[in-house]
Parts: sequence; C-alpha cells; structure tokens
Amino acid sequence: MTGLHVAIIMDGNGRWARSQGKPRWRGHVEGVESVRRIVRAAPDLGVSVLTLYAFSADNWKRPRMEVGRLFWLLKRYCVSERNELISRGVRVTAIGRRDRIPTPALHALQQLERETASGTKLHLRLAIDYSARAEVARATRELGQRVRAGELAPEQMTEELLTQAVTGGVPMPDLLIRTAGERRLSDFLLWELAYTELYFAQTHWPDFRRDDLATALADFRARERRFGGIVEEEEREWAVGA
Ligand code: FPP
Repeated sequence: MTGLHVAIIMDGNGRWARSQGKPRWRGHVEGVESVRRIVRAAPDLGVSVLTLYAFSADNWKRPRMEVGRLFWLLKRYCVSERNELISRGVRVTAIGRRDRIPTPALHALQQLERETASGTKLHLRLAIDYSARAEVARATRELGQRVRAGELAPEQMTEELLTQAVTGGVPMPDLLIRTAGERRLSDFLLWELAYTELYFAQTHWPDFRRDDLATALADFRARERRFGGIVEEEEREWAVGA
C-alpha cells in the first residue's frame, strides 16, 4: 500500500441535525452514511490508510442516550457493512481503549477486524474511546515494563521505539481533515501529526462527500512539504553560493 494516510475529525453531526430541525442523533445516523461514502471513495482518490475519529475518550461526557446511540450505530455499521468492506478489500482495525466499549459493539468490532484482516486496498482505522495523550501514556508504560524486565536499557528508549509503540508501524498521516469549521486537534493523534498537513473544511460531516475529499486532497497535493528542511531549488542556490 503506497497511497496517502488521511485522518479525519468528523465534526458537525449535531449542528447538521439542528440546522434541519432534527434531534442530534439523526446527525450521527447521517454521519455514518458519510463514513460509507468516504470509505468507498478513498482508494480511488489515492488513499490507502484512513483514520476516522469516531468516539473520543471525552465523548463519555455526553448524555447516556447519545452515547448509547453512537455505539448502537457502530455495531450496526460493523454488521451491515461487513460484506461490502470485504468485497472492496478494506481492512478494519480499531485504535483506542477497548475495555469500556459496550459488549455488543465490541464483539461486532472484533468480528469485523477478524473478517477483514486480509484486505489490502484500504486500511480503515476507527478511533474509538480514543485519546492521543492516553495512547502515548500507554506506549510509554509498555516500554517502561520492558525496561523493568531488563529487555531494554533506558538509553534505548528512542523516538523510533516510542513511535513504533504508539503507531504499531502505521505510517504517519499525510493529511488531517477536520470538518465543521473548528480549528483544533481535540486530543487526536498528537504524536503522529507532527508534520501532517492540516485542512479545515466548513462542511458539516453529514454533508461531506467524495468531491469534498477530492478538494482536500487536491489542496494537499499542491502544498510543498519540507519536514523542517528547505526546498530543492533553495538547496541548489546555497550550493552555488548565489
Ligand atoms: C462529532 O459531531 C461527531 C461525533 C462525536 C461522532 C462521530 C461518529 C460518527 C460519524 C458515526 C459513527 C461512526 C462509525 C464509524 C460507524 P458532534 O456531535 O460533536 O457535532 P456538533 O459539534 O455539531 O455538536
């Protein structure tokens, strides 16, 4: 898989619903439709890893009814999309904590992970009960235990090792998209986003379509990524002392 890694903060479901005079949960229902469409469109647009922020560790603060609906939708998605995801070569995995996910949703998710494990066209990563800070803390604990076990010296706790422990080897996101106008990261992929390009769309997630993804990707492709370096032309200028 050599395509791009795109991460999306799917925001604006509630505002979309309110703007239509509907209850908030209807926004989440439409949000799942957007997930279906974007998953379908992503491989054709050159995306090989798609990481979606489906439920943050802070989302537990929402009313119980809303939380219940979100996990019900997740379970329904895992069951109803199974065949389509398999036939499209999509591999689904989840990132985040698993111990607080309601059992029916957790079982459906684990089953989907198993059944899509051989997909090679797109790696769909669902961030569920996710907190980037908690992930870095977890990875640090894991390495700390290896130090205590004598497998690793403290000096060997390098940036690369921590990156491996945080990401499991998945490449860093090339592009982060956040919908619905807010410009913050909300504890999403903080370690991984160091050099990721950011794109903020005004569109609410339920209205986000293939064309919106294509527009974001075109914007990304027109950018020059320097990773802290300088562009080649400037490098040549330095070389000839111009
Ligand atoms: C943000 O909108 C969205 C969420 C907190 C949940 C995102 C979940 C889905 C799109 C559906 C579940 C996903 C899968 C993969 C089945 P918000 O409610 O914060 O919107 P607001 O800021 O307008 O209130």
